Amino acid sequence: MKLFEPFSLAGLELRNRIVRSATYEKRADVDGFVTEPLIEMYRALADGGAGLIITGNALIHPSGRSVPQALCIHNDHYVDGLKRLTDIVHARGGKIVMQLSHGGRQCFPTLLGGNQPIAPSAVYDPSTKITPLAMDDAKIWEIVYSFADAARRAMYAGFDGIQIHAAHGYLVSEFLSPHTNRRDDYWGGDEERRFHFIEETYEAIRKEVVSTFPIMVKMNADDFIEGGLRPAEALRIAQRLQSLGISAIEMSGGMFEAGKMTVRPNIETEEQEAYFREAAGIFARGLFMPVMVVGGIRSRSVAEDILQKEDADLVSISRPLIREPDLPLKFMQGKERADCISCNNCMRFLKLDMVRCTQTKDT
Ligand SMILES: Cc1cc2nc3c(=O)[nH]c(=O)nc-3n(C[C@H](O)[C@H](O)[C@H](O)COP(=O)(O)O)c2cc1C
Repeated sequence: MKLFEPFSLAGLELRNRIVRSATYEKRADVDGFVTEPLIEMYRALADGGAGLIITGNALIHPSGRSVPQALCIHNDHYVDGLKRLTDIVHARGGKIVMQLSHGGRQCFPTLLGGNQPIAPSAVYDPSTKITPLAMDDAKIWEIVYSFADAARRAMYAGFDGIQIHAAHGYLVSEFLSPHTNRRDDYWGGDEERRFHFIEETYEAIRKEVVSTFPIMVKMNADDFIEGGLRPAEALRIAQRLQSLGISAIEMSGGMFEAGKMTVRPNIETEEQEAYFREAAGIFARGLFMPVMVVGGIRSRSVAEDILQKEDADLVSISRPLIREPDLPLKFMQGKERADCISCNNCMRFLKLDMVRCTQTKDT
């Protein structure tokens, strides 16, 4: 099966085509340092056979904290602990990439020491009832360089690459989206200027890491919101990213305001699976860099069919690996369908002590 064939991603030799999509763990300590439960989780994921593991969103600047006890990488003190994490994965033949993120307007003042969240523009978010503060030029550059510093630290901590979180309505996604970016300056006003934030971020990162260090992007194919990013522009963005030298792209969609589009509940049939497959296929055919597709992949046969029909080069999975970190191995041994029922109990971040499966059928 193609699913279990090795894949070379920007020089990274992956043992198969199954990616663990970035999944917030709530297992760092309150200051964002690596803990034993976090190490145990990544040990299980690496033993479980995934070809590539992408960490949960790691915080590149204190103003971007969107959830408690996420991994942090906004200063050098985090590097030693993170090195333990990458060592555990490498010792088990795995590869691990760190997702770098800033929460933008989808942060809550309670996690920001009472401060207002920041964003490209002061656009009210009805889902959080928050109007963020529009960033000035100095703040924008500060965040651009924070991404670059974080990438350098990730490299020193032994990560095999980084992924810029440019999806789901967080800060980078907010710069790309015409809905959340209403600026009329270098950073917004038209498609080309909305691209500047991710372009400057990429260029700043490139200067901080060795030339072979993979830089990937997770982005929306569609914001699913009126006036937001739509597939045609998203494809042009991906093509520009490819021209910059991005190593791979992961296709997702949605933002808080759009409702349950990103992490869709109750996936029961094969038809409901792989809900970004069609979009990913368009991207895969319009790009020569590797494309990953995430969202609702539950069956081995669906995953294999995506690869066979070349709708993506890699399949990316989040919730099923919370329940079964060894799902890739089980797929290899012939298991057909993940046990995850997409009840989304794992999303109850504030109620759970850590992100884990508490599956119930009636939620
Ligand atoms: C508990 C949980 C935490 C998540 N954390 C992140 C994250 O840190 N970064 C990210 O890009 N996506 C995150 N996601 C979204 C997943 O990566 C994925 O895009 C989404 O769950 C759909 O894939 P799935 O059907 O395989 O779960 C999270 C999803 C869940 C359920």
